Amino acid sequence: MAGARGQWNSRFGFIMAAVGSAVGLGNLVRFPGELNANGGAAFLFVYLGLLLLVGLPAILGEMTLGKLSNSSPVNAFRQLGGKNGNKWAVVGVFGMMAAVFVMFFYTVLAGWALRFFFETFRDGWWNNPGTLFSVVSVGPWTVLWHGVVTAATVFVVARGVSGGIEKVSVIMMPALFAIIGIIVIFTAFQPGAGAGYRAIFQPDFSELTAAKISQAVGQVFFSLSLGQGAMLTYASYMDKKQSVSKDGSTIAFADTGVAVLAGMMVFPVLAFAGLLHDPNVTGEDASSFGTAFIALPQAFLQMGDVVGRLMGGLFFLGLFFAALSSAISLIEVPVSVLIDNMGLARPKAALLVGMTTYTFGIWASLNSHALELYDEIAVNLFIVIGVAITTFFAGWYVKGVGKELDRGLKSRVGYLAVWMMRTVTPALIFAVFIIGGFLGGDSGFVFWGDGAGFKELGHTWRLAFGGH
Ligand code: TRP
Repeated sequence: MAGARGQWNSRFGFIMAAVGSAVGLGNLVRFPGELNANGGAAFLFVYLGLLLLVGLPAILGEMTLGKLSNSSPVNAFRQLGGKNGNKWAVVGVFGMMAAVFVMFFYTVLAGWALRFFFETFRDGWWNNPGTLFSVVSVGPWTVLWHGVVTAATVFVVARGVSGGIEKVSVIMMPALFAIIGIIVIFTAFQPGAGAGYRAIFQPDFSELTAAKISQAVGQVFFSLSLGQGAMLTYASYMDKKQSVSKDGSTIAFADTGVAVLAGMMVFPVLAFAGLLHDPNVTGEDASSFGTAFIALPQAFLQMGDVVGRLMGGLFFLGLFFAALSSAISLIEVPVSVLIDNMGLARPKAALLVGMTTYTFGIWASLNSHALELYDEIAVNLFIVIGVAITTFFAGWYVKGVGKELDRGLKSRVGYLAVWMMRTVTPALIFAVFIIGGFLGGDSGFVFWGDGAGFKELGHTWRLAFGGH
C-alpha cells in the first residue's frame, strides 16, 4: 500500500519538507525572543544541551515509529503496541489533537506574516508599526488572512506528498535559507551589530532559573514539531533504505542552526535602532511578537526607505514561507489519519481538516487571549505529555528501534539512542513538566506569561472567556 499512501520522491525532498515542518515561527519569532528574555547565550547553552539530551532522542524515536509502521500516528501506535495496540492508539489520537490545537492559532500567525509582507509595499507600514500590528493581529481582517493561509495549506496538502508538499518545500526552503543569509550578512555590516551579537552570545547565567530550563524544553519540542505525530507522519513516507539517524539529526541541527541565525538576524537590527535594551522590546515582559512585528519593522524603518522596505519585505516573506511549510505539516497529521484510518480521499480529508481548523481559528483571530489559550493548551499540556509518552513507547515497547537506527551506520548509535529514550529523556521531561507546571518561578514554561504553567493556563482560560 506504500504507493497509494504516497512517498517522498527524493531524500532531499524529504529533508526539505521535514525541515520546513520544524523551521517556523518558533525559530524566527519565538527563539530570538526567548534568547533575549532569558539571558542570551545562557539560554542558548541550555537549549543546546536539551537538544542533545531530549530533542534528539525524541525526534529519532518518533521518526522510527513512522518508518517502521509506514502509517498514520494512530495506526503506528496501534500496530507497534502489540496486544495492547488499541490502548496505545489513544496516544496517536492525542498527538493528532496537539497538532490540531497548534493549527488553531498557527495559521492566524502565518496570516499576520503574509499581511505584513504585503504592507511593506504600502505606505502605512512605515508610519507606526505598533498601530499596524494592532490592526493586523486581531479583528475581521485577521479572520480573512487566516483564511488565505488555510486555503493555501489545504491546496498544497490536497495535491499529495510528493506532488504537493515536497514540490513546494524544495522551492520554499532554499528560498528561505537564501533570505536568511542575505539578512544576516546585511545586518552584520550595520553599525552596532557587535552589541547585537553580544546580547545573544554573551552568557548571563544569573538569569537562568529552573523554570527557564523547562521553558527551553518546551521550545525544543515546539521547534522540532515533536509530540504531535508530525515527524512520525513525514517519516512514514520515507524511502525504507534511508537512515533515520542521519536524516533525523540533520533535521534537528538544521532547525537549531536556523534558530541561531534568526537571532543573528534580529539582534543586530535591534541594536542598530537602539532598541536592544528598550524594556518594551526586550526583557521579561516583552512578547516575542512585539520584537518581530513591532520593533523589527521600526528598526528597518530607520535604515532608510528603500533598504528598510527591502529587508523588511524579505524578512516577512521568509517568515511566511517558514510558517506555511509548518502549517502544511500540521494539517498533514490529521489528514493522514483520515486517509489511513477512515479511508477518505486526500483532497476531501484536506478540505475537512482545513474547514475545521479555520473555524476554530476564527476565535483566535478575534480574541488574542483565545490565541494564547490554544497555544498554552498545545504547548504546556499536549506536546509535553505527547513527547514523553512517545519516547517512552519507542524506548521500552517497540522492538527493532535500535536496529532501525543503526541502519547503514557502523557505530552503535541506535543502542545509545534507545538507552536515552528509556532513561534520561523521559525522566528529564517529567521533571520539567512538574517544575514548569507547578513551580513556575518568575516565568513558567508558558511562552507569554509569568507564574506556574498550570496556574497560567487557568488564568488565560478565564481571560479568553471574558473574565479577568
Ligand atoms: N515547529 C514549528 C515552528 O517552530 C511549529 C510547530 C509546532 C509545528 N508543532 C508542529 C509544525 C507540528 C508542524 C507540526 O514554528
